[in-house]
Amino acid sequence: MSFECRTLRAEFGAPGGARVVLDDVSFDVAKGEFVSIMGRSGAGKTTLIRVLAGLLPPEPGSIATFEGREIDGPPEGVSLVFQNYASALLPWRTVAANVALPLEGHMAKPNRLERVAATLEMVGLADRANDRPPQLSGGMQQRVQLARALVSRPAALLMDEPFGALDALTKSDLEDELLELVATAATTVVFVTHDIDEAVYLSDRVLVLGGEPARIVADIPVDCLRPRTQIPTRESPEFLAARSRVHEVIFGTR
Ligand SMILES: Nc1ncnc2c1ncn2[C@@H]1O[C@H](COP(=O)(O)OP(=O)(O)OP(=O)(O)O)[C@@H](O)[C@H]1O
Ligand SMILES: [Mg+2]
Repeated sequence: MSFECRTLRAEFGAPGGARVVLDDVSFDVAKGEFVSIMGRSGAGKTTLIRVLAGLLPPEPGSIATFEGREIDGPPEGVSLVFQNYASALLPWRTVAANVALPLEGHMAKPNRLERVAATLEMVGLADRANDRPPQLSGGMQQRVQLARALVSRPAALLMDEPFGALDALTKSDLEDELLELVATAATTVVFVTHDIDEAVYLSDRVLVLGGEPARIVADIPVDCLRPRTQIPTRESPEFLAARSRVHEVIFGTR
């Protein structure tokens, strides 16, 4: 198993007492599985990603593990991709130097250069290695973030609305690139999105967070075959069935 959560509880201190955001959240993500997390704004999706990334300790009694080990800090082998690519990249560093960041201190320079070049190739940015992030388009900046997450060859990727700010065409290109990259490396992905079609297109399962405090209110399998391709997949009966099920659940949580 890649991630395992049992009776997970997360809360924040608030004036007049603690605000419990997640309570009794239990789910598993198998190795190589692609799972999306959906739910209304404020439901606790980012909070859940932060717990899985080891950035937020859950309350006592919660169990959160990665590859069988308790998550009590950023787990080895897990990379994170945020929505806000502009502020996640260092504007004064070149694209290659941004991507190299997670390897610094962990890998000798010649190997590092080789790995960064191979990773930029994977995301289609080999020719932009010496540019600085502000010189790139939004889609390219998001590719740089993806390259930086992939450069350590992680076993798992946590992605919090990574394509939320992109236009529809760039978004579907990046969805397909992501699917290919994670299929090749058998990477586990936990992906947060507000876009039902995107969640269904990418995922093996869609988990819906709902209620206050939030728990998993639905775990919806997506039976579309892989590899997926934009038009045939989106027109398949399996896609349409999963999409209407997710829709029903999300609107039912209001
Ligand atoms: N650092 C914090 N301190 C206090 N409360 C917080 C903190 N971070 C999040 N919260 C609260 O936790 C709840 C869930 O927030 P979270 O960011 O996880 O939601 P979300 O599902 O990711 O929403 P969105 O879809 O808008 O990104 C909200 O009520 C939010 O105000
Ligand atoms: Mg969020």
